[in-house]
This record gives sequence, C-alpha cells and structure tokens, in this order.
Amino acid sequence: MENFIAYNPTSLHFGKNVLNNLGTTVALFGKKVLLVYGKGSIKKSGLYEKVMFQLNEVGAKVFEYSGIKSNPIIDDVNAAAEIGRKNNVDVVLAVGGGSVIDSAKIISIALHVKNDAWDFFEYKIKPEKASPLIAVLTLAATGTEMNPYAVVQNPKTGQKPGYGGPLMYPKHSFLDPQNTFSVPKDYTAFGIVDLIAHSLEAYFGKGDATLSDKFVFATIKEALEFGPLLMEDLNNYDLRAKIMYAATAALNGLNSYGRVSGDWGVHGIGHSLSVLYDTPHGASLSIAYPAWLKLQKDRIPERIEKLGFELFNSESVDDTIYKLEYFFKLIGSPTRLSDIGINIETEKELIYENMKINKVNGANQKLTGPDFLTLIDLMDAE
Ligand code: NZQ
Ligand code: ZN
Repeated sequence: MENFIAYNPTSLHFGKNVLNNLGTTVALFGKKVLLVYGKGSIKKSGLYEKVMFQLNEVGAKVFEYSGIKSNPIIDDVNAAAEIGRKNNVDVVLAVGGGSVIDSAKIISIALHVKNDAWDFFEYKIKPEKASPLIAVLTLAATGTEMNPYAVVQNPKTGQKPGYGGPLMYPKHSFLDPQNTFSVPKDYTAFGIVDLIAHSLEAYFGKGDATLSDKFVFATIKEALEFGPLLMEDLNNYDLRAKIMYAATAALNGLNSYGRVSGDWGVHGIGHSLSVLYDTPHGASLSIAYPAWLKLQKDRIPERIEKLGFELFNSESVDDTIYKLEYFFKLIGSPTRLSDIGINIETEKELIYENMKINKVNGANQKLTGPDFLTLIDLMDAE
C-alpha cells in the first residue's frame, strides 16, 4: 500500500430539504454573492426561486452569471470572474451539475488574479487564494461536489484539461436528491456511467490497496443494482438518493487511498470526444471504457478478471467486458461512436490529432500513438 494523506474539508449536507440551511450557511461567508448557474434547468424546476428565497432571507446581495454550458468553456469562467471582481463578491454559489460547479471552482480562484483563467490550466500562475465556494448539486455524476478538481474546455485550442488543488474544495455542498428528479433519462444514465467510470479509474490506478478495491466494488455494485431501477422510476427519492451518494463517494478520495493515483486514461479519451463533438461526459465514457478494456485485456488480464468476478461473477475477461458494456446499453448510454453519429471514416484523423493535442494518457497504463488508433477502431467495432 502506498503512503497517503486523507484530506477532505467539504461539509456535505445530504438529504431532504437540506436547502433550508443554505441562506444561513452562505451568510457565514459574507453578503455579496456571485450566483453561477447553467442554461435554465434551475428556473424550470423551481430551484432558482428556492435559492433566491434563502438568499433574500439573510439579506444577501446577489450578482448572477448564468449560461454555463454543459462541457463548460473558459470564456464563461472569465466573464463570470469579471463580474465577481467588479462587485467585490465575498462568496461564490454554484447551483447546477458538474459543469457549473467546475466553472465556479475556477472562478473562485480567478477572482483573485487579473490573468486569463486559462493561465491556471497552463501552470503559468498558481492560485494563492480562493473565495469560499458553496455548491448546490442538481445532477448526480461527477463527484465535483466533494473534490478539488475542475475540468474546463478551451474551444480555441481544442483542449479539455483537468485542474485541481487544495483551495478548490467547496466549503459546503448541498445535495437534496429531490433536486435531481428533473434530470432527464439520458443524463441520469450518463451520471450512472460516470460514477462507475470514476470507480474504475481508481481501480486501475497504480498501487496495491485492497480495501480501496473493495470500496470500488461496493460503489459500482450500488450502481449496477439501483441504476436500472432508477431508470424506470425517475422520481423515486430513495433511488435518486442511493445514486447521488454513490456518485459523491466514487470520487471523493475513498476509492483511491493507498494508491499512487487513479489511471484516468479513459477520461482523457472521453474528453477528446467531448471537446470535438460536445458529447456529454458520461456518454463519452460508456463508449471509451469498453474499448480501453479491450485494448488492455492482454496487458492486465488478472486485474480485469478480478473485477469481473467481483461485479458479475464472470470467469473471463471477455465476459467481464461484455457484461459492463451490456449494462451501459441497458441503461441507455451509447457504447459505439456510431451511436452518437460519429463516422470514423471521416473523423478518425481528427480524433487522433485531438488525442495528441490533449496528450491523452493513463497515469498507470501508458498509451502510445498506435494505441490511439486501436482505441478509435475499437470504439467503432461491431
Ligand atoms: O445547464 P442546465 O440548464 O442547468 O442543464 C444541465 C445540462 O444541460 C442539465 N441539468 C443539470 N441538472 C439538472 C439538469 N436538467 C434538469 N434537471 C436538473 N436537476 O444537465 C445537463 C448536463 O449538466 P452538466 O453539469 O454538464 O453534467 P455533469 O454533472 O455530468 O457535468 C459534466 C462536466 O463535469 C466534468 C465533465 O468533464 C463535464 O465537463 N467532470 C468533472 C469532474 C470533477 N470536477 O471531478 C470529474 C468528471 O470526470 C468530469 O470530467
Ligand atoms: Zn468522469
């Protein structure tokens, strides 16, 4: 087992009506609030009004930035940070899914510099300070609500890198499963894929950590057992709650302690698809994971076999991959590039070049240029 430091300062408020404490929690950090949200789901669901009620109750002065897109872009981060700087805000409040919360994380450090926020991603500057960030999560998927990472796209360069650091944990995150009732069927499935993928990235990381392996199996089993039930019953509180907590647990550290790091090669492949075709994050992973496992099956057969045995009682690598892929299809997530309308005859070169631009690689299972081409073929194969 590798040495590790377990550190996670986010207070997680989980359950029915936890938002009743949102206003008083925000007020702990000041009166001037930069409220960041997406393209309008919170207005449709009525959550916006609930949040504003909470903020008004404590006399907060609210400055808004809306319109953060799914697969968020650096331009919105810069524009929001400008509003925050001009108004000297005390606290950033993110209400949305991973795209909104990730953007808010970078906004919270960008508020304290004059630079373009992309300079963080290029390591030209280092954050010295962050404004307190409070998150209200509306979609169970990324785990961003309890981790220090953010992933943002730069449309000019075609990059989608991750960035992280200890300043970027939300101070408080509010998770009421009721706020995920309105997540449509497709994004519900993509979220389930994402939480499985985070557990797998941890599992395929470097280092021997048998207890973390068991947490990984337990987290994925939660998704295998309750994911399909949720797909048939989207307004079921208990099922929404189980998946929401599993998604948080998949990427808040627990699955990785005792390992050097996760692998994250599959996420790299997925990010290339998202930056090129705006593919939803989870959809990119249900296409990339089976392909990656097929590439790795002769390189790390025992590791894949162990996974298959624990999850599906499988006795072969091929059966393990088949069953994982079958599960993704069962919940309605794509498993081939053709499922999302990508024709590799015309797109192969572009995907290959973008994988090079993004330096797609695993921290543990290294990927080479020829691997990129094999992976693209495997994402298309019958
Ligand atoms: O923009 P709005 O109108 O809010 O609509 C969103 C968006 O269209 C909608 N939505 C969210 N909550 C909803 C809802 N619709 C109805 N009811 C609700 N309650 O869902 C769509 C997708 O939202 P988005 O935030 O993009 O999804 P997700 O949470 O999956 O976040 C994806 C982003 O997170 C990054 C991904 O790369 C991607 O950019 N990730 C972040 C990670 C992290 N910070 O640790 C790790 C992940 O691996 C991932 O890379
Ligand atoms: Zn992910």
